[in-house]
Parts: sequence; C-alpha cells; structure tokens
Amino acid sequence: MSQPAPLEQVDKSWWKEAVVYQIYPRSFNDSNGDGVGDIPGITEKVDYLDELGVDVVWLCPVYDSPNADNGYDIRDYRAIMDEFGTMADWEELLDALHARDMRLIMDLVVNHTSKEHEWFQRSRQRDGKYEDYYYWRDGSPDEPPNNWESIFGGPAWSYDDDREQWYLHLFDENQPDLNWRNPDVRKDVKEMITWWLEKGIDGFRMDAINFISKPEGLPDGDPDAQLVGHEHYAHGPHIHEYLQEVYDDTLANYDTMTVGEMGGTSIEQTAEYLIEGNSGLDMIFQFNHLAVDDGPNGPWSLDGWGEWNLTDLKEIVTRAQDELAAEFWESLFLGNHDLPRIVSRFGDDEVYHEESAKLIATFLLTLRGTPYIYQGEELGMTNVEFDTLDELDDVMTIGKVKELIEAGEIDSFEEVRDLVNYLSRDHARTPMQWSNDFHAGFTEGEPWFDVNENYRDINVEAALADENSIWRHYQSLITLRHEMDTLVYGEYELLLPDHEQLYAYTRTLGDEEVLVVLNWSDAPTTFDAADIETSEAEILLSNYEESPQNPHQQEFRPYEAVLYRL
Ligand code: GLC
Ligand code: CA
Repeated sequence: MSQPAPLEQVDKSWWKEAVVYQIYPRSFNDSNGDGVGDIPGITEKVDYLDELGVDVVWLCPVYDSPNADNGYDIRDYRAIMDEFGTMADWEELLDALHARDMRLIMDLVVNHTSKEHEWFQRSRQRDGKYEDYYYWRDGSPDEPPNNWESIFGGPAWSYDDDREQWYLHLFDENQPDLNWRNPDVRKDVKEMITWWLEKGIDGFRMDAINFISKPEGLPDGDPDAQLVGHEHYAHGPHIHEYLQEVYDDTLANYDTMTVGEMGGTSIEQTAEYLIEGNSGLDMIFQFNHLAVDDGPNGPWSLDGWGEWNLTDLKEIVTRAQDELAAEFWESLFLGNHDLPRIVSRFGDDEVYHEESAKLIATFLLTLRGTPYIYQGEELGMTNVEFDTLDELDDVMTIGKVKELIEAGEIDSFEEVRDLVNYLSRDHARTPMQWSNDFHAGFTEGEPWFDVNENYRDINVEAALADENSIWRHYQSLITLRHEMDTLVYGEYELLLPDHEQLYAYTRTLGDEEVLVVLNWSDAPTTFDAADIETSEAEILLSNYEESPQNPHQQEFRPYEAVLYRL
C-alpha cells in the first residue's frame, strides 16, 4: 500500500469539502397553497438546511417549462416557471443561501429543450439560423431515420407534420435534442451559461451531458442492446471538445463546481472526463454501483431485479474510490429524483428503518468524494405503494410500462407493479414530510402528488424533537466531515472484501486513521481484521447505544454502523 499523502499535498477545494443537498422544487415546500412546491417555499426552509449543515444546494430545474418531464423540458432558460415564482423570488433565495455561506448550483439541461422553446418553434419553420438547431431527418412518416430508442420508451424519433421531417429525442417526444454540431447552438448555450454565472450562482449539475455529441450519419445501433443507439450517442465523437469549449468560454472565468450526469458510463470512461483539460468537469454522477440490483436486462428487467450482494457493492464502490476518487474526485450518492428511496432499496424500511437509514448515511458521508443528500433522505423517507398506473406521474415509468405492453411482454400494469413499486422515479417525488399536519405540512391546498401515508411518523418536526433521529445522525456526520479532513481527503482502504455482511474500510490522512464498520445485514456478525490494531479505538459516532468499544471484541448488531478513530 502506498504511503497516505500528507494533507499539505492534497489538492484542496471548497467543493471537495462540501456536502450537497438536492432539492426537487415541485415537492419540497409549497408557500401559497396551490399544491405545488415553489421557490419562496424553499427560501422559508433555508434555516432548516443551515441547521442540517449542508454547504451547497443543487436545485433541480426551475426554468419556464410546460412540464412534460417536470422541468427537464425547458421552454425558456432565462425565465422562472410561473408555478415556482418569479426571478425576484429566485434572487431572494440565492441571497438567503449566500447570507448563510451556502452556495447554489443549478441544473443545466442542454442536451435538449422543450418542443415549446422558441428555438424549436423557429427550427420547425426553417427560420434562418435556427434551421439546424435540432436533428432533423427526411423519411416517410412511418419509417424513423434510424433504430435508436428513447430512454423513456418507444422510438427516439417523432415526425413533425409542420416541417414534414423527423426530429430526434433521446428522452420524451417533447424534449427534442439540440444539435451541438452547430456552432450557433453552442454559442447560444454558452451565452445562457454565462448569463446565469453572472447572476452569481456557484455552478451546475449538467443533465445527461454525456449524450450531447452525436456521430455523423446517426448510424443504427445494435438492435439487441439494452438501449438501442446508446453506443453511438453516449460519449460521442466531439464530447470532450464541446465540454472543454464550454469550460474555456464560460466556467473558467468563475469559481464554480460542476458535476456531470452520465448514465451508462464505465469507470474508465468517467476517468477520461476528469483528466485535466478534458472537460472542465469537477466530478461525475456515474451509476455503476446502482446497477448492483439490476436484472439481466438492466433496471427494467421483468425478472431477476432487486437482488444484490454486499460483496458486489463493495467491489464496485472500491473501484470507483481507487480509480476516480483517489485519482480525481467522485460524487457520492445512492438516491436522487430519478431513483427510488435509498432506505427502501438498500436498507430495511420496516423492521430496521432507523438503523439502516443511519447506516446508509454513515456510508455516504464517510467515503472519499462529495456527498449528495436528496431531500427527505435525512428523514429516512421511503418508497410508496402504487396500485394502478393512474397513480403514477413520471413520464419515464409510464412510458416504460406502455412500451412493455405494446411489445406484448406484459398484458397489464399488474405484471410490473412490484417492479414499479421498487424502482419508479415517482418514489422520490412524493412531497417532503415536514410535520404530522394534514398533507405532511407540505401544502395547505391539495398536493400535486400524494403524500406518503407514513408522514405521521416520518417527518421533520418529529425528527428535530428526537435527539437520536436519523436527521440528527446526518447532522452529526456532516459536522464530523467538516471537522475532520481525514473524512474528506483521507485515503480509502477496503477491509474484509469477501465478508458478506460487513462493509468495513479505513480512511487515512497523515497520522490520523478512521475505521468505518457497517453491518449491512439484519443478522449479527463479528469484525475480524487481524492487521488492524483497535485496542485504542475511540467511537466517533454510532447508530446504537453501547457499540463495541473495541470492534474486535464484540458483535455488531443488525445494521449497526460505527465510526472509530484508531
Ligand atoms: C436526467 C434527469 C431526469 C430527466 C432526464 C432528461 O436524467 O435527471 O430527471 O428526466 O435527464 O432531462
Ligand atoms: Ca406553490
């Protein structure tokens, strides 16, 4: 093992030391009783975020949008969605965050726009320079130009009767892909980015950013692939050039953080972006660890989903720690607005709800990288049960179910209900649970989406009143991370790789060594790592009372999670 680097040799920056909190505005807090979360609602909760201790807020899209995909279909990049408030409200939020030394990063959605964006409206009329702002192709109305599939189900092409041509959309038909080959598109996007940076934001989360470069000729994809066409449009030929150009012409002039969302990216491909001068991205959301419970055909497999082994998770996470976090930097997350609730997926949302939610928190906040907490995780919010297709809102889940029905793979929703109840994006989008008041204190009106019934037990008010709550555990972990550089910058080393219940590792920086022992199971087990000297171990945090003082000498109980200083 190499010698851990002394602190003064580690390349430090504020975004490496930060803990990020992700807000899905529609479901966070409604200030005016129309049932839809909004920006003044977030501003009301800035003190709440400050008390939790987070440093950065990532705000999912708040731009003007017809909401085919809840804001990821942008009609006007420089305007705020009416339902969410005004630009003045947004400025007030930015000021409120900055006044508390928190920063704000915005979602940058530039793989596609809404169909209602002015650029698309003009493009379909072949209006001047806008003619080639999107991917238009000739062809008869019943024969798409290639076989690519939409990530949301169905073909990636729709026919436009106005222009009498097909246009490409990797996502919903209301989200046409921008043609990044066109320098005018890049120029407009860069101007928009600078416009937001000038307003004082602190960076971007870049949506689906590995898809922006499509190859010449748009060749057919492998028809047997999980997502047909993916091998062509993911990490396309000019991707690094485009990202570097965006960086050089915009971000390079500001002190920002950037995180690129990249679905279907290997660890090697991820590393390619992080090499200095190859994208300007600080870190990436790569999803390798979240494939651990996929079935044979990916997340939407009809069988074989939902099972996972801890040893597999350890192997994948350790590779990312060694090859991304140690070499460059890594983003740490298990959940977001597109994913099920983490305690339902990786913990036990019934018997060991509290213990397992705290264990997962301990894991996320003690790895090397920048942790991202998705709203409600700090409460241990859980998945919900959907009984019928009508109860769902998410365009992707609905699209996928329809695709399966149309392909004859299933006859009805019933057949995929369990799968949907395991992985739908809707689970993350139920309203934030603030109190045990009507509608969980989220709204005084009718919520746009039903509140999870368990809000009477799981809510902020109850969590703040309990000094041992999951919320308090998050708060303590964030405080520890702020106090101990070892938790941020320390070298990660996996212990006991083959242990089926324990995930244990050390973090080392200079003279300081921290040991994390997580019993990621519902049965007791022992820690036996002979080469680790634990006789003087000091417990920094635990999710049980009276945890083993010396980890070698006592059993770890179900989901017991202990952080030691050695
Ligand atoms: C990203 C977003 C997701 C959205 C999609 C299309 O994956 O996280 O919510 O639907 O991109 O913009
Ligand atoms: Ca509202």
